Amino acid sequence: MRLSNQPTSEATPNEPVKPSGGNLLVLEGLQTYIGQFHILQGLDLAVPEGAVTVLLGRNGAGKTTTLKTIMGLTPPRQGTITYRGESINGLTTYQIARQGIGYVPEDRGIFREMTVEENLLLAARGESRAGYRTHLANCLDLFPDMQRFLKQKAGTLSGGQQQMVAISRGLMTGNKLLLIDEPSKGLAPIVIKAVMDALEKLKRQVTILLVEQNFTMASTVGDYFYLIDDGHNITNGPMDQLVADTELTRKYLGVGFA
Ligand SMILES: Nc1ncnc2c1ncn2[C@@H]1O[C@H](COP(=O)(O)OP(=O)(O)OP(=O)(O)O)[C@@H](O)[C@H]1O
Ligand SMILES: [Mg+2]
Repeated sequence: MRLSNQPTSEATPNEPVKPSGGNLLVLEGLQTYIGQFHILQGLDLAVPEGAVTVLLGRNGAGKTTTLKTIMGLTPPRQGTITYRGESINGLTTYQIARQGIGYVPEDRGIFREMTVEENLLLAARGESRAGYRTHLANCLDLFPDMQRFLKQKAGTLSGGQQQMVAISRGLMTGNKLLLIDEPSKGLAPIVIKAVMDALEKLKRQVTILLVEQNFTMASTVGDYFYLIDDGHNITNGPMDQLVADTELTRKYLGVGFA
């Protein structure tokens, strides 16, 4: 598997790993088990700095497990995780988060009984008051609507509003890398568009590894893609290449884009 994000026309799972310069995060040969189940089976992935890399694959392919493995929630049994040139293997989730990696989980991970403001304050733990204000202003710039429901309990919000809060939580400590798991899940098309627009703005600030099954969002926001299946790499490259490959998208993603 190539880690350079250069075009790969065929699946090349046995190609030697060659991490390239400019990658913020590099995963090599990840083997992750959940209980006795062997979920990630030698996964390689490189996330170039300043770009959006989209991780795609069928249901159960191992996308969420990949993000959890990076965050130390399901630590790998083998393989290396290198962030900004240093290994983060073996660190706790807290230590990994402190390195500047934000995780926006599939279930959004917000505190429903707390107000939006309290959710954001909690996410900004350890930041100075000035830092909190700067990050909050940035989030309100990305999601102007959030101003209206800052004082509202998060559990009373719509799915789209909750997603805005979830992404904002990932921005309250000035993270350099955001891992976002299926932000469009369960959202109406118009709300998906709002999240998509925010991600377009966000990509100018942070590097993003995005799991996204909505192909319109994935192909609009994404610069690079990795396609995985059954815990293995299938192929990777620039997003344009995937959009053009209707055979591949039909086979693994169940959609045609001709
Ligand atoms: N707690 C668990 N116990 C057992 N198996 C699990 C557990 N969590 C995930 N798995 C299995 O691991 C595999 C990968 O799951 P994962 O959630 O990473 O897939 P995914 O690509 O995110 O899928 P989806 O598109 O449905 O979100 C699946 O076969 C799933 O059933
Ligand atoms: Mg998932």
